[in-house]
Amino acid sequence: LLHGIMAKPRVYITREVNDESMNLLKQTCDVSVWSGSAPVSKAELMKNLKDSQALFCTLSDKIDKEVLDVATNLKVIATMSVGYDHLDVAEIKAKGIRIGYTPDVLTDATAELTVGLLLATSRRLFEANEAAKTGGWSSWSPFWMCGPGLSQSTVGVVGFGRIGQEVAKCLKPFNLKRLTYYNRSERKEAKEIGADKVDFNELLTESDFIVVTCALTPETKNLFNQEAFKKMKKSAVFVNTSRGGVVDQPALVEALQTGEIWGAGLDVMTPEPLPLDDPLLKLKNCVILPHIGSASIQTRNKMGLMTAQNIVAVFKNEEMPAELIV
Ligand code: DGY
Repeated sequence: LLHGIMAKPRVYITREVNDESMNLLKQTCDVSVWSGSAPVSKAELMKNLKDSQALFCTLSDKIDKEVLDVATNLKVIATMSVGYDHLDVAEIKAKGIRIGYTPDVLTDATAELTVGLLLATSRRLFEANEAAKTGGWSSWSPFWMCGPGLSQSTVGVVGFGRIGQEVAKCLKPFNLKRLTYYNRSERKEAKEIGADKVDFNELLTESDFIVVTCALTPETKNLFNQEAFKKMKKSAVFVNTSRGGVVDQPALVEALQTGEIWGAGLDVMTPEPLPLDDPLLKLKNCVILPHIGSASIQTRNKMGLMTAQNIVAVFKNEEMPAELIV
């Protein structure tokens, strides 16, 4: 019994992480790491969770009831992400397990990437680069490689939380005609940013650029369906850096193939990774990135550290830096 009391809590980490996070965890915990380059299998995860008090996971790890039912010693699940749609939050809370996540630290990096993806899509950066490298650039040509400009355009942001607001602030200096957002509730920050709240229909019909930064929830699942794409302008650029599940992907493929919309830039899709034979990868008017929204070096280090801090806080009976309260 004495040994049981003295023993450090065991934490299972589902990917190799930064040294700073590891060192912090090792001070308080016994650390065990899945060191594969692909996500840990469900069976291996379940085997390891049986006698773990903490889980350090990522968005690739689906933490459902089946997993939780074997994890009878878990006190805390800390995900190295701001999104938590991979966690069965209701079930976790019902079992009295605390949840840590990583808001704020990735807001700037994700907003940067969103702006980059928007411009890469509208100004056809990858297509143009490919042409320059493969002999497709025959001369400067008046209307070659043109795309819609941001200046004097209407941008609509769907989901006006931390990331959506930061994207809006970053886009503001591009001389927009109008900035709008669609969100469940009115956001007080919008006034200062200069964004108008509109209903979903208006956002779809009036926007030249539609930028999606909302969380994936039962309400936003497949929000962008065939009907939504049909309402968009034929010249619209659709950008998604939230979760693939907010889009009915076959409907998006069709909209891109038929010219219902002008183009799409996606950092997230269904499934991830996208199979190489997926129709989205064959479309010239679709830019695909491999879910790298938060992938700045500094940000990933901060996300790792915050995840570790969330775990340590629980065992030290301190306030978690970011506890998910729902
Ligand atoms: C998140 O944190 O949810 C992003 O998708 C990855 O950083």
